[in-house]
Amino acid sequence: MRQTLKVQISDKKSYDIEISDSGFDKLNRQISEMTEGQRRLVIISKKVYDLYRCDLRFSEEEIFILKDGEKEKNIKNYLKIMKRAIELGLTRSDVLIAIGGGVVGDITGFVASTYMRGIDFIQVPTTLLSAVDSSVGGKTAIDFQEAKNIVGSFYQPKAVFININFLKTLDKRQFLSGMGEVLKYAFIEDNCNYKHSLFLFEFLTLGCEKIMQREPITIIRMIEYCLNLKISVVNQDEKECGLRKILNFGHTFAHALETITKYKKYTHGEAVVYGMYFILEWAHKKEYINYSYYRLSIELLYKYGFKPLKNKYPVEKLIEIMKKDKKASADKITFIVPCAKKQVKEIKLTACEAEGMF
Ligand code: GLY
Repeated sequence: MRQTLKVQISDKKSYDIEISDSGFDKLNRQISEMTEGQRRLVIISKKVYDLYRCDLRFSEEEIFILKDGEKEKNIKNYLKIMKRAIELGLTRSDVLIAIGGGVVGDITGFVASTYMRGIDFIQVPTTLLSAVDSSVGGKTAIDFQEAKNIVGSFYQPKAVFININFLKTLDKRQFLSGMGEVLKYAFIEDNCNYKHSLFLFEFLTLGCEKIMQREPITIIRMIEYCLNLKISVVNQDEKECGLRKILNFGHTFAHALETITKYKKYTHGEAVVYGMYFILEWAHKKEYINYSYYRLSIELLYKYGFKPLKNKYPVEKLIEIMKKDKKASADKITFIVPCAKKQVKEIKLTACEAEGMF
């Protein structure tokens, strides 16, 4: 099975995303065809390289192996990749290929956007999280001085190839981390202005068993639904001037939680789910949403095995981190809050008001 979606930001900035369960031979062929006549540098996650080196057709010379983990998305690795591109003699007509999760995609995209003022890059996401979120939409970045994604750019890939066979070897925790981002889309569907209703909330409620079994057709459909919503948002607001902020539902709290625990305790998706629990609870208390939608929402998160956060963290510290968030402005903290079924809105709170949420 194969689905092709199109990102169309402008006439010059458009690209295809292919979601498929075909064999790796097909993936190799497609990449070869797309990069014909170009020199290539392939940045690949160490885990993916160890598992799939025999399935992927690249020469040793083309490969740059990046160790796994957020801490690898740093300036040293950025420079190492740059150096390698220069050693290989890559010109502006050549191409970078990212094979891995969000870390590989983000750093490769950032190198691509800055090497010779920009060269092509192709995303081959191998985790659920990168397939439904980070590989699409052109956010590229590295972390610097303990600030996540502080150095980066908006730079769209030339193509995205999502082959769900990579998900077979994803451990359960990483799969569920991706589900955190998938679930997010269910709460924002009506803001995305997609051409028709996808009923993602209902699809995720009814399809839980098949999704957790990673049934291929269901997984392809699920990724397709999420990306239809994301593409619709990105086409309307590439640079996050307005609408795109809704993709940060659950993320204000999530980033604070990840930062306070130094990115070691929770996966990104887990943190997003805790962020969604937090804001759903608050929105219900403030009567932004009614009890029935609140219950349905909590039940949906529960269905996937997610529970509310038990650990307590110092509120002043969390608020301090939220104030430094890229989304904060003029001393106010931005939250994306649910305001009706499948709908959210942006609110800005002072630090004092935000403290009152806890
Ligand atoms: N991950 C959120 C976005 O792409 O805007």
